[in-house]
Amino acid sequence: MQRETEQRLAAEALDRIERRAVPQADSTMVIDGARYTAAAALAAENAALFRRHPLVVALGCELPEPGSYLTFDIAGVPVLLVRDDEGAVRGLLNTCRHRGARLLSGGGKVGKAFACPYHGWAYDRCGVLRALPGSEHFPEVDVDDTRLMQFPTEEHEGLVWMLLDPSASRVPDPGLGALGPELGSYRLSGHTHRGSHAWTKRMNWKLGVDTFLELHHVAVLHRKTIAKTVLKSAFLYEPFGRHARLVAPRRSIEEQRGNDPTDWRLVPHATVIYRLFPNAILISQGPHMELYRFFPYAEQPGTTECRMTLSSPADEGCGRDWDEALQLALGVLDREDFAMMESVQSNLAAGLQREVMFGRNEIGLQNFHRVRDAALAE
Ligand code: FES
Ligand SMILES: [Fe+2]
Repeated sequence: MQRETEQRLAAEALDRIERRAVPQADSTMVIDGARYTAAAALAAENAALFRRHPLVVALGCELPEPGSYLTFDIAGVPVLLVRDDEGAVRGLLNTCRHRGARLLSGGGKVGKAFACPYHGWAYDRCGVLRALPGSEHFPEVDVDDTRLMQFPTEEHEGLVWMLLDPSASRVPDPGLGALGPELGSYRLSGHTHRGSHAWTKRMNWKLGVDTFLELHHVAVLHRKTIAKTVLKSAFLYEPFGRHARLVAPRRSIEEQRGNDPTDWRLVPHATVIYRLFPNAILISQGPHMELYRFFPYAEQPGTTECRMTLSSPADEGCGRDWDEALQLALGVLDREDFAMMESVQSNLAAGLQREVMFGRNEIGLQNFHRVRDAALAE
C-alpha cells in the first residue's frame, strides 16, 4: 500500500477505534433472498457479470513458467489458463476441437504440446493444433488454422484478468480507479505461489463474497477461534467504482498511538480486504496475500467452486510452513463461515422467508449488492 494511503487509513482507524464508530449506511437494506437461490438470478448474473465484466481469475505467480497451467469452470464454461512460450498467460476454452473432450484437468505443467485424452489431437501452449493423428481421415481440416477458442486475458501487476467472451478482442478496463495503483503497490508480480486449494460449497457465489464484507459476526460466530484478535468496534470501508476496500485493524495497531503520526503503519496491523467485482476477494495479511474466487456452477445457484491461493514476496517466507498457513487460513473460513453460509443457502432455498436484511453497519454488503443490481440493470 502506498505510504500516504497507509498513513491516512491508520489515522482513520485509530480515530474510529477511539470513537467506537463504524462506517454506517443511511438505512437498513432489505433484499429478496431469491437472488441467492433462483436459477433466473444466476442466468442474469451469468450474462451481465460473468460474461461481460473482466474477472480476476488467478495470480500470475500461479503460472510461474512457460507451460504452467490451471483449469477451472466458470458457470459451466471450462477454462484453461496456460503460460505460453513468450511468457504471456493465455485463456483458452478447455474443449477439444475434435469432439469436445476436456483437454486438461487440475493444474501443473505441460510440454510444448499437449494431447487430448480422447483421440490424441495435440495443441501447443497457444492453443494451436499441432498434430492430428489419422489426419488422412480429416482432409478438410487445416491443422495450422485450427485452434482452441480463446478468451481475452491480460496479466497486470501480478493479477490475471480475463473476459469470458471469446468474441471480444481485449479485456475491457475493469474500472479500478485509484485502487489500480494501490494494488500495484503490493508488487504481486514479484510474488511466489505458496499454495492453493479448490473446493466446492453448497452456497451461492455471492455468499462467498458476503462473508468478507462485515466484521460484527466475528465476536459471535468466531468466538472460540479468531474473535480475540479482531477489533469489531472499528473497520474502514471505501468503494472504488464497482470494487471496494475493507480494512479490519488488529489490536496491535493501537501500540502506535504514542508514535509520530507520520510513522503510523497499517499493513502490519490490519487485514486489508479488496473486493474485486464481481467474484474475487484479494486479502493482504501482512506480507502474504490471499486470493479467493467464487465460481458458480452452471445453472446451480446453490453450488460454488471456491478457489484460494496464497502468495508472498519471493524473498520472504523462508522456513515458513506454507501448508500450515494455508490450513490455518482455510480452517476458520471453511468450518465456521462457509458452514454458516451453507445453512443460509438451504434455509433461503426453502422459500418461505424471502427477505434478507443488511443493517447500517453492513455497509459493505449493501454496497456489493447495490453494485451487483446496477450492473444487472445496465
Ligand atoms: S475429442 Fe479430442 S481428440 Fe477427439
Ligand atoms: Fe468470518
